[in-house]
Amino acid sequence: CGVHLKRQLLLSWYAQSGRDLPWRRCRDPYQIWVSEIMLQQTQVKTVIPYYHRWLEQFPSLESLTVANLQQVLKAWEGLGYYSRARNLHRAAQKIVQEYGGVFPRQLQEVLALPGIGPTTAGGILSAAFNQPVAILDGNVKRVLTRLVALSVPPAKAMKQLWQISEALLDKEHPRDFNQALMDLGATVCTPKNPNCTSCPWKDSCQAYNLGIQSQLPMRELS
Ligand code: ADE
Repeated sequence: CGVHLKRQLLLSWYAQSGRDLPWRRCRDPYQIWVSEIMLQQTQVKTVIPYYHRWLEQFPSLESLTVANLQQVLKAWEGLGYYSRARNLHRAAQKIVQEYGGVFPRQLQEVLALPGIGPTTAGGILSAAFNQPVAILDGNVKRVLTRLVALSVPPAKAMKQLWQISEALLDKEHPRDFNQALMDLGATVCTPKNPNCTSCPWKDSCQAYNLGIQSQLPMRELS
């Protein structure tokens, strides 16, 4: 079915079944940025308590810039991948120096901040400013891989997957669309035993219609 129907189906599913996550209750780019960095390599349920504690300790971008690195690393303790915390601290200084403490809105500027790649930039700009920027994190890769029954490992088709994510993105509702796509991957289109019967995209999912959803994504030969 068409792209318009797919958008509608996903957005209705999200309105009914989307998760209520703390960073979805705000539009502050600083808070959303912190959440997206924490979520890069860490699961939602682990992130939530760290996210709340972080914002108590560093409620604003300004408060993060005046903290010293020791305090910042201490707040990160237990989350792992400490370069994420160092990059948050460095990026905050850069935002103060180059943008007067105002989180930038241009994709190129956001991508130039330490610790922010394309999917994190899309996550921030769509969630904070409702900008039509696509995302492609691990969950989204799996959803799209199954949707088109991609016959190669996702790593071999990154350009194609980005194109699909951009083509599907609802430019009128980019914030909700991207959050919905991540939730679909996290709660329905799961790595093992995907819950296809409750999927809003089952009718147009190539993998489901071929009965090969559990065999996708293809694994990289190692
Ligand atoms: N993973 C990365 N960003 C996320 C978000 N905004 N909500 C849920 N999971 C995510």
